[in-house]
Amino acid sequence: MTAYQFEIQHIHQTFHKGTANEHHVLKGIDLKVKKGDFICLIGGNGSGKSTLLNAISGSFPIDEGKLLLKQKEIQSLKEYQRAKFIGRVFQDPNLGTSPRMTIAENLSIAQKRGAKRSFIKRATSSNAVKQFSKEVEMLELGLENRLNTEIGLLSGGQRQAITLLMSVLQKPELLLLDEHTAALDPKIAKFIMKKTNELITKQHLTAMMVTHNLQDALSYGNRLIMMQAGKIVLDLNQTEKEKMTVEELYQLFSQ
Ligand SMILES: Nc1ncnc2c1ncn2[C@@H]1O[C@H](COP(=O)(O)OP(=O)(O)O)[C@@H](O)[C@H]1O
Ligand SMILES: [Mg+2]
Repeated sequence: MTAYQFEIQHIHQTFHKGTANEHHVLKGIDLKVKKGDFICLIGGNGSGKSTLLNAISGSFPIDEGKLLLKQKEIQSLKEYQRAKFIGRVFQDPNLGTSPRMTIAENLSIAQKRGAKRSFIKRATSSNAVKQFSKEVEMLELGLENRLNTEIGLLSGGQRQAITLLMSVLQKPELLLLDEHTAALDPKIAKFIMKKTNELITKQHLTAMMVTHNLQDALSYGNRLIMMQAGKIVLDLNQTEKEKMTVEELYQLFSQ
């Protein structure tokens, strides 16, 4: 029997229950994710992609269903508890980092996540700074020479690159990316996507990435999922994905 890295079992979510605005947003989502799977998630606006990622990371208690991370139920854990093993990057580069803190301070917060107190002290030591410098160098933005610069002074793209790095610093069991390149100009979006792929594949991370870029959805990852009105309507494996063209995917998308 395959031991899955992550399983979603029959998740339902309804907002504004019992009111005129009642909205059944997730309608029985089931998903089995293997370790190292890099899943691209596509779907029209309002199909429930962000709600699914929010349900996984614990933004709200889910109405029904189970979430199993390495076979342990996590659906009752609070968001901050799940943050110890779930990394997350949002669309807005202003989320996920503290603008008045330096690059090094932000990285040390990410490093500390879920750590014991003794480790927290060490995180700001010169050794830690050396290590951060090496990690930041990998982004190829020259930010390793600006570790004491406040995050708020960086461009959106630079900031998103740091957020991405922070999200993988602790090698999360699951990485969630929600249109994390959508607010960036095309050039930096392409660059961040390339770095994302490098980080995920090198560290053999398990990831789910929401994107509206159908070419990215086909080029990256080993699995492609499409949502429509709160349900998964398409689930392609690597081989099926390789055969699919952007045009075919677009046709399916607009049905
Ligand atoms: N916290 C919430 N309260 C009420 N409605 C919500 C909430 N979160 C999402 N929704 C609604 O759920 C639907 C799906 O939204 P979302 O998951 O953000 O879609 P997507 O990310 O696929 O564009 C939308 O109609 C949205 O308004
Ligand atoms: Mg969304």
